[in-house]
Amino acid sequence: MLHWLIAIVILFLFALGWYMNELPRGSGKVTDIDLFDLGIYTFHLTEAATPRTFYFNLHKSIGFTVLLLVALRLYWRLMHRPPALPASMKRWEKVVAHGTHHLLYLMMVLMPLTGLLTTLYSKYGLHWFSVPVLPGLDNPGWRDFFVDAHGFSASILIVLIGLHIAAALKHQFIDKDNTLKRMSFFD
Ligand code: HEM
Repeated sequence: MLHWLIAIVILFLFALGWYMNELPRGSGKVTDIDLFDLGIYTFHLTEAATPRTFYFNLHKSIGFTVLLLVALRLYWRLMHRPPALPASMKRWEKVVAHGTHHLLYLMMVLMPLTGLLTTLYSKYGLHWFSVPVLPGLDNPGWRDFFVDAHGFSASILIVLIGLHIAAALKHQFIDKDNTLKRMSFFD
């Protein structure tokens, strides 16, 4: 359950991150935002903001939530041993699977952490769904460093997610060894 929730939210954050970065700076402030210009849902803001500010705040708020969820997942994972990998897997396959899983955990921490540090060193800080959490230290040098680190982490994480999904599909449809069933309620 936690595995699937984190997966969906992280994929959404990728889409949101790329989308918001394309939005123009300095466009007019509005109070109604048609979510992703899809004509499905219009968000009403109590205080006027530019679409770019709105989507950045949304990305940062959901991203911070992911950091908390990943911390919960790591705690769960450290307290509970997962079932052993299928005996049919070759030794090298197990090494690659474990390596990818460890790297995924590392990147799932580094991704939101670099985002959080970008925000800390920006002039805006973090408002988590409007609740002030972090001030903005307004240090362009460190902000740019963490913007690059966040972008670099995104490139690595997307490759790892691709490998992870490809491996899961191979187990499900080629090896047919029921590996997907290992992801039970709290995994
Ligand atoms: C797993 C969680 C996250 C994912 C997958 C993610 C993904 C992304 C992606 C794909 C981009 C666009 C990068 C680019 O085009 O170069 C981005 C940008 C950004 N993210 Fe995240 N993000 C996450 C968490 C966070 C968090 C927790 C924060 C802050 C609290 C944050 C703040 C930002 C900011 C400020 C930018 C714009 C950087 C710039 O100025 O170019 N992100 N994110």
